[in-house]
Amino acid sequence: MVKYGKYVALVAVAALAVGTLTLAGCSQPATPSTPAPSTSTTAPAPVLKVVTPGTLIAGSDTSFPPFESMKGNVAEGFDVDLGAAIAKELGLTLEFKSYKFDTLIPTLVAGGKFDVIMSGMTINDARKLEIDFSDPYINSNQSIAVQNSSTAKTAADLTGKKIGVQSGTTGQAWAKEHIKGAQLVPFDDALAAFSALQAGKVDAVVNDLPVSAAIVKDTTRGLKIIQEVATGEQYGIGVSKANPDLLKAIDAALAKIKASGEYDAIYKKWFGVAPSSN
Ligand code: ARG
Repeated sequence: MVKYGKYVALVAVAALAVGTLTLAGCSQPATPSTPAPSTSTTAPAPVLKVVTPGTLIAGSDTSFPPFESMKGNVAEGFDVDLGAAIAKELGLTLEFKSYKFDTLIPTLVAGGKFDVIMSGMTINDARKLEIDFSDPYINSNQSIAVQNSSTAKTAADLTGKKIGVQSGTTGQAWAKEHIKGAQLVPFDDALAAFSALQAGKVDAVVNDLPVSAAIVKDTTRGLKIIQEVATGEQYGIGVSKANPDLLKAIDAALAKIKASGEYDAIYKKWFGVAPSSN
C-alpha cells in the first residue's frame, strides 16, 4: 500500500516534470519550475509500536507441541514458524518468550514485556473484552485422553474422577461444564498434565485435540483419546487493544502468507498433511 502510494506520487512528479518541460519547449517564456516535491513528503511507512525496536516478541506457554515447545532453549513449532513468517512481513525478527499460559493476557495488557500472544490461544468473547485477536489462523477442538488400560469411553464415564487440565484454558472450562462431579486438577503446563496421567495421578486429561493427538502418538506414553469434542475453536494472535496498527499489520501479513502458500508449507511441516479447511 505504502509502496504503491509512493509509486503513484513518483509518477505524478514525473508527469509534472514532463509537463513543465513541454510547456517550456513551447514558446512560453521559461518560468521557474516549482521544485519537485521531495519523496520525503510522501507518507512514511507507519512505524509499528513494539517493545524492542526491530523485534516482534511473542509471549507463549511453550509446552504445547506441535504449536510451541522448547528444543533446548530454542522455541519451535507451528506458531513459531508462523510468527517468524509474520514478523518477516513486518520487517521484524521474531523472538519467543515463555510465560505461564494463564499469565499471558494480564501480562500483554500490562504492556512492556511482549507484543503479541502466540500460544495456541482460542479466540473467545471473554478474552476479547481484554485483548484483540488477529483473524483466526487455525481450527481446533477439545479431546479427552486416558491411559490405554482405562475402560472409560466418554465424558459420562468420568463423573467423580480426577481430570487433569491446563490452568486458564478452554479445556479447563469445558471439563468444568461438561464432566459433572469431576474433580479438576489444574496444571501450569499441558505436558505436566499428561505426565500425571501416565503416572496415574489423574484419570483423564481434557486438552486441545491437535496437541493431545500429537502426545498420544508417542506410544511409549500408553495413552489414548476416547472422545473428540467439536467445540469449533479457532486460534488467534493476541494483540493489545492499545496497538491497533500492529493488529492490522498482522492480519495483512497473515493474509499474504496464506495466499502465497507459505502457510500451507508451515502446516504441512508440523501436521504432516495439507490444511483442509483452515
Ligand atoms: N486453546 C486453548 C485455550 O486457548 C489452550 C491453549 C494452551 N496453549 C498453550 N500454549 N499451552 O485456552
